[in-house]
Amino acid sequence: MNTVVSFLLLLVSGNAVGQEKPPHIIFIVVDDLGWNDVGYNNPVFKTPTIDRLAGNGVKLLNYYVASHCLPSRNMLMTGRHAIQLGIPQDGFGYHPRSLPLDETTIAEPLKHAGYSTHIVGKWHCGYYADNCLPHNRGFDTFFGFVGAGIDHYTHSDHFNHMHNLRKNDDCIAKKYIGKYSTTIFANEGKDIINAHDQNKPLFLYLSFSAVHAPLEVPSSYLKQYESTIHDEDRRTYAAMTSCVDEAIANITEALEEKNMLKNSIIVFTSDNGGALVNSAGNNWPLRGGKHTSWEGGVRAVGFVYGDLLPRHSRGTENTGLMHITDWFPTLITLAGGNPHVGKKLYGVDQWNMITDKMGKWKL
Ligand SMILES: *[C@@H]1O[C@H](CO)[C@@H](O)[C@H](O)[C@H]1NC(C)=O
Repeated sequence: MNTVVSFLLLLVSGNAVGQEKPPHIIFIVVDDLGWNDVGYNNPVFKTPTIDRLAGNGVKLLNYYVASHCLPSRNMLMTGRHAIQLGIPQDGFGYHPRSLPLDETTIAEPLKHAGYSTHIVGKWHCGYYADNCLPHNRGFDTFFGFVGAGIDHYTHSDHFNHMHNLRKNDDCIAKKYIGKYSTTIFANEGKDIINAHDQNKPLFLYLSFSAVHAPLEVPSSYLKQYESTIHDEDRRTYAAMTSCVDEAIANITEALEEKNMLKNSIIVFTSDNGGALVNSAGNNWPLRGGKHTSWEGGVRAVGFVYGDLLPRHSRGTENTGLMHITDWFPTLITLAGGNPHVGKKLYGVDQWNMITDKMGKWKL
């Protein structure tokens, strides 16, 4: 074989060891979503897309996160435990202070492995200086907000009271005031997918501000709950969840249209249990909720979907133990990257467990 041909083969095979192309990774976080707040755990909730993806993927039944956003988000980004990052598991840490700058974010090894890396929505890993922001920490682009939560229409932040929707270094708040957050983020996610060169692997961290308080939703999503949910807050919360479901349907459709879905891994997760105070989450049959260390606070809804899952694992309910720090080594390894470039990880690669290679995690 001459060198030109072998060079071309190398290009086709995607990398030097001749593996298949690395998958697109779509990592979806729904903020404060409770255990009992997806259709597959509670048929009153209308989330057909989430149910379909989960039903054809691997549902993670013993999957643990922190009891609130800040530790979870920072653990997710680093694969390191909150306490290693200077955040007490149940306390508040930095905001606006930052995830220490000598920590490695998940986007960095992925970028190194050839990925385009984008974050849409909530960051929550610090913002006191420019070098704390995601587009200076491994993400090619950042569209969203820096803090814990926003008003879904004005996008003002309840900590810094700024209308802080931004695209990289630019404040773009004015353009979007009055528009609903979930739709804004879904559209941005779609635009990223549509503009993406399919031959390059994509990492999209789609981090919705819903279903975090305040409870707000376009009225069109409420109608389907008129006869089934009588509590007004709970009805609004359910409608917010259905809107997220539609957003995920739109994202999935965009992937399909670009012929990217078959080579995508979609991860879906909440960052903590449903909030019972100042919100209307529900974690039944788990006890407690956000900000508690009961199962309802720290055991999250989560699943993995994708054609790259071996056939025997699709449609399974996986009882293997998993922690939010595990995504970092799991996904970077799956991507053909090296997760061990920074400080010592707390998480472990769970792909064999998720895909049931040990053969004992099926119910
Ligand atoms: C999903 O796409 C439809 C069609 O473009 C659009 O009308 C709808 O607002 C989108 N939903 C969300 C939540 O973005």
